[in-house]
Amino acid sequence: MGAILRVITGKLAPLFNVIASGMHPTYELTDAGDRYFDGLADKFSRSLYQAPRGELRLAMLDYLLPQMLHLKAQAVLDVGGGLGQLSGWLAARGHAVTMAEPSQDMLAHAKAWHAEQVAAGGWQAEQLSYLEAPLQTLQHQAPGPWPLITCHAVLEWLGNPEQALHTLATLLAPGGQLSLMVFNRDALRFSNVVKGNYQKALSDQLEGKGKRQRLTPISPVTHDEICQWVSDNGLRIESVAGIRIFQDYVRQPPEKMSDQEALLALEKQYCQLDPHWRLGRYLLYTVTKPEANV
Ligand SMILES: C[S@@+](CC[C@H](N)C(=O)[O-])C[C@H]1O[C@@H](n2cnc3c(N)ncnc32)[C@H](O)[C@@H]1O
Repeated sequence: MGAILRVITGKLAPLFNVIASGMHPTYELTDAGDRYFDGLADKFSRSLYQAPRGELRLAMLDYLLPQMLHLKAQAVLDVGGGLGQLSGWLAARGHAVTMAEPSQDMLAHAKAWHAEQVAAGGWQAEQLSYLEAPLQTLQHQAPGPWPLITCHAVLEWLGNPEQALHTLATLLAPGGQLSLMVFNRDALRFSNVVKGNYQKALSDQLEGKGKRQRLTPISPVTHDEICQWVSDNGLRIESVAGIRIFQDYVRQPPEKMSDQEALLALEKQYCQLDPHWRLGRYLLYTVTKPEANV
């Protein structure tokens, strides 16, 4: 996936700039308190996916998702699909994907990149369809129920992540799987301490405000919250892993290729083991809904 991202961010840079420069308004928080990524696509792409941490995230998803999910080319709803990497990854594995994303900017980039991949033979154009819509309207716009839903790095950008998990539960078919990835509040505290932001960590005022181009999530969540919300909705956590369990805490970013490979190997080796997964920058869950009448 790393190579895919380099193509997105390289070839589409001018498009990013045009869009970011004012063809569409730049929003802050919505009435629901959510942060759509309009006006943020360029910054998000640069600071995450054009950086080693984005490459590592994609490499870890490529490694973990086939183990954590039963992937059988089933239909998928990708909620808050962003720049479209995960939707593309699923399409390349034979899934029919509906990508829902409320940000016009993000969706435009995803579509443009997907079109390039289709032209290069990555998958068939009909495998992907798009909804410019927030999670909150999907019960009407894409009720499913879906055998597989992916929702990665979205809950932390919402005013009410707990309510969002309830909505995801209603969209999931009995026996269905939800791949949920969230920004880990405990890791945010830890990294603030590592960076010397002691007062911020002491006061536990960790969340961002969603203003301007800031990429600190407004609603980072804890593992305990996810456990509670999953159980409140009659769902079950099947497995959990930490993403970027070491990378954010190393003193010197690895420069040599051999060190980068060693760091990736360490992330893979310990991402599902206690205590390391608990301080992953992101927590990745497979959540299932029981079959009816079981
Ligand atoms: C950090 S990005 C993650 C994108 C992608 N899922 C990924 O993992 O790269 C967060 C995405 O959530 C979207 N978002 C914000 N509010 C949303 C909402 N209410 N419903 C669905 N998506 C939302 C943003 O527009 C943005 O594209």
